[in-house]
Amino acid sequence: MRVCVIPGDGIGPEVLGAAVDVLRAVAPDVELAEAEAGWAAFQRHGEALPAATLAAARAADAVLFGAVASPSHSVPGYRSPIVSLRRELDLYANIRPVVGLQIADCRLQIEAPIYNLQSAICNLVVVRENTEGLYAGRERLEDGGDTAIAERLITRRASARIVRAAFDLARSRAAAGKAHPKVTIVHKANVLRVSDGLFRTVALEVAAQHPDIAHEEMLVDVAAMRVAQTPGRFDVIVTTNLFGDILSDVACIHGGGLGLASSANLGEGRALFEPVHGAAPDIAGQGIANPLAAIECAAMLLEWRRRAEAAARVRAAAAAVMSDGPRTPDLGGASTTAEVARAVIERL
Ligand code: NAI
Ligand code: MG
Repeated sequence: MRVCVIPGDGIGPEVLGAAVDVLRAVAPDVELAEAEAGWAAFQRHGEALPAATLAAARAADAVLFGAVASPSHSVPGYRSPIVSLRRELDLYANIRPVVGLQIADCRLQIEAPIYNLQSAICNLVVVRENTEGLYAGRERLEDGGDTAIAERLITRRASARIVRAAFDLARSRAAAGKAHPKVTIVHKANVLRVSDGLFRTVALEVAAQHPDIAHEEMLVDVAAMRVAQTPGRFDVIVTTNLFGDILSDVACIHGGGLGLASSANLGEGRALFEPVHGAAPDIAGQGIANPLAAIECAAMLLEWRRRAEAAARVRAAAAAVMSDGPRTPDLGGASTTAEVARAVIERL
């Protein structure tokens, strides 16, 4: 198996270094090839996603991605490379699982105001459409720069395939023992009547083709409140690109925060695994980023390549470290990225 490793910026290289060490320890036969992307790459080459990186990602069996720092001001020629990669590789399904932190077992002292009694029973997945919506890159200025327009692209094809992916996932989770399989279709069709109107119509058509799995629809604003307050009521949430981006950050609080949130970007026969978090400039360079989200990405990658035993070993080692420490500051500990990574490898 060949894996393209794209560390990126900020804490990306710090956490991905840990994930790569774990991957090497558990699957020494895996070939790893590093490639550049992000803000540093843009400054070096004038390209955030160099052609060589895209070619390497295409040629590999899977991609491990860290995080990139994308400026919030407009920079001519710069586009977020992760958004580009998802579209170029047609990684249409962004799968973001959140399993509630068993806080009593972990003796954690995380500061998570919305962590509540429901958090521990949370076991949900956000299935986010990854190729269109408001992230389709159709933004422009008009009126001499005084009017900004973003087009929200929704197609029948992309909506149908993401909702099918959600129902397939709900079915496989049920087969693996998850009680009460259900797909929650999240939209804002009451206001975005045309674009989310189409998403909703297509989603309900797909739902009708899957009568064995329960479904419901929910407007995104109330969905955000319920994800915060009663996460245990959800199983699989399927939604458009921007809504899925936001809802998954809300949901990840129940799993212990961004330092523990991982995601898979899946297409036909292709996959990219990345932590949900970004480049975290506030802690970058300090060696204190939590590497467990990135390490779980390595486990997801192994599982996707049908190496279930190796994936289970990584997860068991990470769970033991979560429970007994060492822990990084985001989880109330005082240890470093490297210490946590070393502890996971020792547990392997
Ligand atoms: P962020 O996810 O980088 O950080 C948010 C907060 O969570 C920060 O306080 C950070 O210290 C903390 N955090 C994140 N990951 C952590 C970890 N592994 N361990 C401990 N604490 C962690 O989001 P932010 O600050 O909004 O964005 C920073 C930069 O990252 C921006 O340039 C943004 O464009 C980029 N970004 C990139 C993403 C990607 O590459 N997929 C996703 C989100 C943001
Ligand atoms: Mg995000």
